[in-house]
Parts: sequence; structure tokens; C-alpha cells
Amino acid sequence: MQNITHCMSKIVRNATLLVRLFHRQVVAITRFFMRFWEICGLSGERPCHTRTLTVSLLIGLLKEAGEKLSQTASIPSGFRTMNELQANQIATLINKQNMLDGTLSAANILKHKDTIFFYADGDVVIGSVKVVRVQWYQAEVKYLSVHLDYRRKGWGRKLLAEAEACVRGMGALVAQCTVRGDNLPSINLFLSSGYKETVTFTNPESGNRVHVFQKELKP
Ligand SMILES: CC(C)(COP(=O)(O)OP(=O)(O)OC[C@H]1O[C@@H](n2cnc3c(N)ncnc32)[C@H](O)[C@@H]1OP(=O)(O)O)[C@@H](O)C(=O)NCCC(=O)NCCS
Repeated sequence: MQNITHCMSKIVRNATLLVRLFHRQVVAITRFFMRFWEICGLSGERPCHTRTLTVSLLIGLLKEAGEKLSQTASIPSGFRTMNELQANQIATLINKQNMLDGTLSAANILKHKDTIFFYADGDVVIGSVKVVRVQWYQAEVKYLSVHLDYRRKGWGRKLLAEAEACVRGMGALVAQCTVRGDNLPSINLFLSSGYKETVTFTNPESGNRVHVFQKELKP
């Protein structure tokens, strides 16, 4: 009896986890089948359309479902198409969190979208990072930023890994990042990701201590 109870609770736990992970996909697929049902007149609410109309509607639905799935296929990897709303959120995120000397506009982010990697959960940008090549062998990892609601869940580390993949993809061999001396979360992140502190200096304008971190990336 104890075994059955243990087994049942394990099944429920795993099922809950699966639904949590794939709830968007499940909703999209259910919607797709409901509309398919309706179009074919099977729901009894609509008469059956002509074959051509049904086929073209089905193609449309398949496309729509495919797009939805690709948008929601939880947190995509790779550089994605960026829209204005996302650019706005990325600019706000960086301006609020990264203590830059100036401010970045959404237009600026959009202009450089090919160098910016970001993760999004639906319409909410989770975090972003920019990669700029500064030498043939070296690229700068900049503006690494994670939304407050998503902190300490591994997104910072994942963004850094994506940035490094991008540096490798450029053919560069060294990733570099500068961090303010009082930014403990970032310093910990870089040190625990294999970066070495190569030099520190004081910014003459702000008086801030700046730490330069570098990591050799094996091709
Ligand atoms: C730095 C930052 C990107 C980390 O993002 P995150 O998603 O919270 O980080 P992760 O969950 O991936 O954590 C990775 C590591 O970073 C370090 N870290 C993150 N937050 C920390 C904190 N509050 N205190 C101490 N270490 C911290 C830890 O070493 C952690 O590893 P662990 O969880 O195994 O201990 C995030 O704090 C941030 O956006 N800060 C503001 C912007 C900024 O300063 N960017 C850096 C510019 S270079």
C-alpha cells in the first residue's frame, strides 16, 4: 500500500512538472485541434466548408501553430528577431541595472540587434548580453543584465555561455568583460565561469574601481 502511494505521488509530481514545463505548447496544440474540429464542421456549430477552403485554412492554422510553438518553445536559444517592445525592455533593463555613464535608447538597441542576445519568456525579456569584437583575437562581453524577477535562477550564467559561443563563432579567442569593483554578483559570476582578473584601474571621471576579466576560449 505504501509502495502504491509512493508511486502515485511520484507520478503526480512528474506530471505536474511536465505540465509546468510545457503548458504553453499544450495550450497551443489544444487550440489548434479545437479549431481543426470546428473547421471540419465536426463541432456542429459550423457547416463543412469546401475542400479548398478547408485545406487553405488548415495550412494557415498549421503555420499559426508552428509560429506559436516556436515563439513559446520555452526560452529559445540563438540570436532572435528583436521587435520594438523587446528593444525597449532591453534598453530599460540595461539603463536601470548596469550603471552606465550614459543611457541607451531602444533605437540604439535595435540598431545593434545583431550583436545582442536575449532570452524572453513570452513578452517579457528575461535578460540580455551584447558581444562586440575589439581585436581579431578578442571580443568584449557587454551589458550582461538579468531582470530582477529572474535573478539567481541561472539565466546570467546561460547568457554568458551564449555570449562566449558567439565570441567563438566570430573566431575570436579571448572574451573580456569590465566590471565595477563593488559589483559582487558579476564578479562572482565571472570568476566562477573561468575568467581571470587581469588588471584593475580607477575611472578618472567616476572614481570607480574597474576590474577587467578575461577568459581564453578554446575553439
Ligand atoms: C550579474 C547578473 C547578470 C547575474 O545574473 P543571475 O541570473 O542572477 O545569475 P545566475 O543565477 O546565473 O548566477 C550565476 C552566479 O553568479 C553569482 N551571483 C549571482 N547573483 C549573486 C549575488 N546576488 N551575490 C553573490 N553572487 C551572485 C554566483 O556565483 C552565481 O553562481 P551560484 O548560483 O552557483 O552561486 C545579475 O545580477 C545582473 O543583472 N546584475 C545587474 C547588471 C550587472 O551588473 N551586469 C554585469 C555587468 S558586467
